[in-house]
Amino acid sequence: MSEITLTIDGREITTQPGRTILEAAEEHGIYIPRLCHLPGLKPFGGCRVCTVLVNGRSEAACTQPVAQGIVVENDTEQLRAWRRNIIEMLFVEGNHFCPSCEKSGDCELQALAYRMGISAPRHPFLWPRREVDASHPDVLIDHNRCILCARCARTSRDIDGKEVFGFVGRGPARKLTINPGARLVDSALDVTDQAVNACPVGAILRKRGAYATPVGRRHYDRAPIGSGIETPAELTIDRGDQP
Ligand code: SF4
Ligand code: FES
Repeated sequence: MSEITLTIDGREITTQPGRTILEAAEEHGIYIPRLCHLPGLKPFGGCRVCTVLVNGRSEAACTQPVAQGIVVENDTEQLRAWRRNIIEMLFVEGNHFCPSCEKSGDCELQALAYRMGISAPRHPFLWPRREVDASHPDVLIDHNRCILCARCARTSRDIDGKEVFGFVGRGPARKLTINPGARLVDSALDVTDQAVNACPVGAILRKRGAYATPVGRRHYDRAPIGSGIETPAELTIDRGDQP
């Protein structure tokens, strides 16, 4: 089938059929924010951070395939506000103490907040009581930081072939579980599993490796999230409506 032409924020681009909007945008140096998306995994569509408007309808760019002639809006004030709201909700739903988190500077949630100009969430913190599972000799899970993106579960199932992780509950009661028992040490997880690398936040961490790269020299200390996709000229830091 021949190439598909679409527009993103008024810019005409061409791509191959079968690509998602997020992939097509990325091919052309356009960054669409995302959290649950991880290259190599099947599109999931869980976090909605990648929400765009397609011919005026909201869609998840990571799951929505391209189609001939569609008009995509990505970088608008309305969409930036929606995304800021999702990120702020993720911060207040869990317990995220960035200054003391080992993942600071490498955390995609923190990096998105910086990029979106979020200095403090506008919603009340829920301060949930959640567990830290440090039972495994080499890996720990701090459920306080889990944003339920399912990247670990999907990686374990589709890449490691293990199904170490699962989920129980609905809505605010939804939580990550470890199969088959409740503790990581009882699972089939090995420190070399790709699932250990899949977490966008500091929920899954390798033990004894936290400060191998000093704070200040980590991935997003050096460059804002998304800047590897964009050309430097397109890179902007959105300060949003925060003071
Ligand atoms: S532990 Fe990490 S990768 Fe797994 S669901 Fe939670 S935030 Fe996502
Ligand atoms: S990145 Fe698209 S829904 Fe999460």
